[in-house]
Amino acid sequence: MANSSDQRSLGTQPVRWHGDSLELLDQRLLPTEEHWITAEGASAVAQCITDMVVRGAPAIGISAAYGVALAARHAGGSENWQVEVRQSIEQLAKSRPTAVNLFWALQRMEKVFLACSELDEAVERLAAEAVLIHKEDIAANLAMADHALDVMSPQQAIGVLTHCNTGALATGGYGTALGVIRRLHERNLLKKVYADETRPWLQGSRLTAWELSRDEIPVTLNADGAAAAILASGKVNWVVVGADRITANGDVANKIGTYSLAVLARHHNVGFMVVAPSSTVDMTLLEGAQIPIEEREGTEIREIRGIPLAPAGVEVFNPVFDVTPANLIDAIVTEKGAVLKPDLAGMKALFA
Ligand code: MRU
Repeated sequence: MANSSDQRSLGTQPVRWHGDSLELLDQRLLPTEEHWITAEGASAVAQCITDMVVRGAPAIGISAAYGVALAARHAGGSENWQVEVRQSIEQLAKSRPTAVNLFWALQRMEKVFLACSELDEAVERLAAEAVLIHKEDIAANLAMADHALDVMSPQQAIGVLTHCNTGALATGGYGTALGVIRRLHERNLLKKVYADETRPWLQGSRLTAWELSRDEIPVTLNADGAAAAILASGKVNWVVVGADRITANGDVANKIGTYSLAVLARHHNVGFMVVAPSSTVDMTLLEGAQIPIEEREGTEIREIRGIPLAPAGVEVFNPVFDVTPANLIDAIVTEKGAVLKPDLAGMKALFA
């Protein structure tokens, strides 16, 4: 999506479009192995999303859009092509439940699909729409970083703590919360970034620490349980996180553990900022309690890569997202601008 000169500044982009296939960086194998998986059809893309080969709300939406483009590209060429594309959209919609970017992207693709009467036209227009969704995401990330720095208005280098992975790997490129960290670093305004390891899937240690180290942005990795002590030390000015779905009242679903960080930030008088594209905003839901929260296999807690960490078969509760109430959030930053102290009125003013 980016040429080689801006590849470095946008970070490692996890999705590569080849017109008749999609390459996805297998994020399950990082940081030890850089392996690309080729998905030749919509079913393969849906499976890659479910299995977390590709993850992160915006990257899921972008991949699903390319999945729809592939469905048209590989449709049998018969009069059944519309049925095949429709079935692929339905299959992709079942791949993961929480990140609304998936449904947002599929709706955009469906609108284009419904406007096409011939297969050739659909093949061309669906591919163009997916590429546009990808490009717009990168542009949104760059714009969000500007808005976030306006809100922070740091006079000197600051300390930041982040959770999960919200970088190039989770998006079309550059990143959301991690994009803000990149921008602070570009402007010599980043004193230190602490990255929560983010149990159980370890997006922080496996992906964020890898991505930042690779781009020569100094990072200090910490166990999730260390966050309270770090905030108490006074070394962090802002906790900056991404989002998987933001409801009309400003509640935010994000990676499990985000809510506890917001409570900690409020207790320690540290700013709490959510950075996400407007494709993450779901104005059809009034509040966070309505967001479907994905629960994943207990093995993600009981084991790491097949190594047992708990008694075999012990009962596990593994919700992979939680909801941070709007009243704990200082700013929601999107490419359209920021909502400070978010509530229904503030959200409506920007996203009505
Ligand atoms: O389960 P994941 O890895 O898909 O969860 C990712 C997150 O929760 C991210 O914080 C969120 O999608 C924002 S990514 C820019």
